[in-house]
Amino acid sequence: MPRTNRLDTLIAKAISRRQFLQATTALAASGLVAGCATSSNATTASPSFTFGSVAPSVADRVVVAEGYTAVPFFLHGDPVSDGPGWKFNAANTSDEAMQQGGQMHDGMWFFPLPVGSNKSDHGLLVMNHEYPRAAQLFADGDKDMSAEKVRKMHATVGVSVLEVKLENGSWKIVRPSKYARRIHGLTPARLGGPAAGAALMKSALDPTGFAAMGTMGNCGNGTTPWGTYLTCEENFHDYFSSMGGPVNPMQARYTLRPKPQYKHPEFDARHDASKHPNEFNKAGWVVEIDPFDPTWVPAKRTALGRYCHESAHYAVAKDGRLVIYTGDDARFEYVYKFVSRDRVNTTNRAANRDLLDHGTLYVARFDAGADGRAQGRGRWIALQQGQNGLTADKGFPTQAEVVTFARMAADAVGATKCDRPEWIAVEHKSGEVYAAFTGNGQRGRPDKEGANPANPRVNNLYGHIVRWRENGGDAASTTFEWDVFLSCGNPAQNEPALRGNLKGDIFTNPDTLTFDYAGRLWACTDSAEATEAELLKLRGNDSVIAIDRATGESRRFLVGPVGAELTGLTFTPDMRTAWVNVQHPMKDWPNTAVDGKPRTATLVIRKSDGGVIGS
Ligand code: FEO
Ligand code: CA
Ligand code: CA
Ligand code: CA
Repeated sequence: MPRTNRLDTLIAKAISRRQFLQATTALAASGLVAGCATSSNATTASPSFTFGSVAPSVADRVVVAEGYTAVPFFLHGDPVSDGPGWKFNAANTSDEAMQQGGQMHDGMWFFPLPVGSNKSDHGLLVMNHEYPRAAQLFADGDKDMSAEKVRKMHATVGVSVLEVKLENGSWKIVRPSKYARRIHGLTPARLGGPAAGAALMKSALDPTGFAAMGTMGNCGNGTTPWGTYLTCEENFHDYFSSMGGPVNPMQARYTLRPKPQYKHPEFDARHDASKHPNEFNKAGWVVEIDPFDPTWVPAKRTALGRYCHESAHYAVAKDGRLVIYTGDDARFEYVYKFVSRDRVNTTNRAANRDLLDHGTLYVARFDAGADGRAQGRGRWIALQQGQNGLTADKGFPTQAEVVTFARMAADAVGATKCDRPEWIAVEHKSGEVYAAFTGNGQRGRPDKEGANPANPRVNNLYGHIVRWRENGGDAASTTFEWDVFLSCGNPAQNEPALRGNLKGDIFTNPDTLTFDYAGRLWACTDSAEATEAELLKLRGNDSVIAIDRATGESRRFLVGPVGAELTGLTFTPDMRTAWVNVQHPMKDWPNTAVDGKPRTATLVIRKSDGGVIGS
């Protein structure tokens, strides 16, 4: 049985046993307590993996461990409910695309139905769609861009909510479904938290400063203990441009370009920063969505700061406040955490509605241990107006400026610049936190920063995983101890910058990191930057890797098709089903024989004997 932790005790005291059981199963489903844990002390007896590892594959297909099946379940262009399906050669209109799965599936989460249960045969599968790729979105690619094409690009990013059900041993998408929903680049959203209504959010298109149109660049994700979904806006700058006009220092720090990456600014003035500069400030946030309420307006939680958000996984502090860890996935950027002002209400879901609008944003500083090794002490530095030099004369007159220009606030307080922090996963029983630093080939270049204790390799092409434990086991603590859990790459490599210390199967560039309900650590890789032929033989295409937390042993579970990254791994509470996303397949898989448009796809993974995945 799982060890009773302090939060369980608090809940048990506060509510009746019946309510407690309901609440606990809900929390187990959302990861707050480890509902299926088998070990009473995960730190010393990490669950092991018993599947046989998969050989590295460079084939244009999906390969999964023996005894498992992994089959396409939901593709770009498939209807989320009973709307129109994919049309040959990507011929769907923008209106149709708004009723279909978007492109580039990324972060994903299974929420059991009904809300608060730990049902594993019925639920909502919620996933992000990261970015539009014209080659697969239009019959003629990016030729003759138009307002309709830009509208379809808006339609293809954001979030899909699917209702899914296990029937006779196979998973189906429920169509029609009252929950099914698309949230995309043109879905009305609102701002909450310290920047909502601030002057730097007001524009001719929104004089209130409270409205935001849609969500874009939806990469990693998170959830809350009350069963809402957090979608993270990552490469939002690609959708905006100054269109040849000047770029101010704040805009430059957020990579606003004079020349647009996509054509949005030419056809939608909101994306033209020379006309409406403050609209750019409304992107780059963590956005909360209630998948159980299709009428709920997505809320951009500005208290968590604005940067290229990757994932947003939570821990619960000893006193019941919520802590959310987020990384800024760009080279030489930072790791952040948000600590809520108020405690999570475990009995009244609605009471947590605006919990993420009030709290303290911190940024991490990793300091070396006494011997200078890649482990040591760390501090969380508050990004709070009036503290730590964040004053009006430094450009931070209010907290709205601090959160909107969080990167500049983090620069000012001396935080540690990291090698592209992607997903940050929390192991709830031990309180350990694991962050995938996916890589940074620019570290140590003559014009760039050199190594630091937590980012010890120059030319860090393969990435590493950093781990920390908060002081006193309290997620709200402002100090922590950290180490480099593992460095990716081939242990037999001669070049020190590329040599990994992996025990087991070789992998590079961890991106998704997540814990299953048994406390096992899983990574999905995105290794576009590390593709030497020699390495490819050892590592294969991007993969799903299981990692034993106690021993650091890595084992390859699934390999994707050519050119695709794997992302968004999620499980049912009973661990008998998993889903993972195959993002940007580049060749024939899964369907180019049909129309030459390889489509991003969600795979559903089952064990042939119906057993627990990973066991
Ligand atoms: Fe969208 Fe940082 O991966
Ligand atoms: Ca990612
Ligand atoms: Ca990545
Ligand atoms: Ca990606």
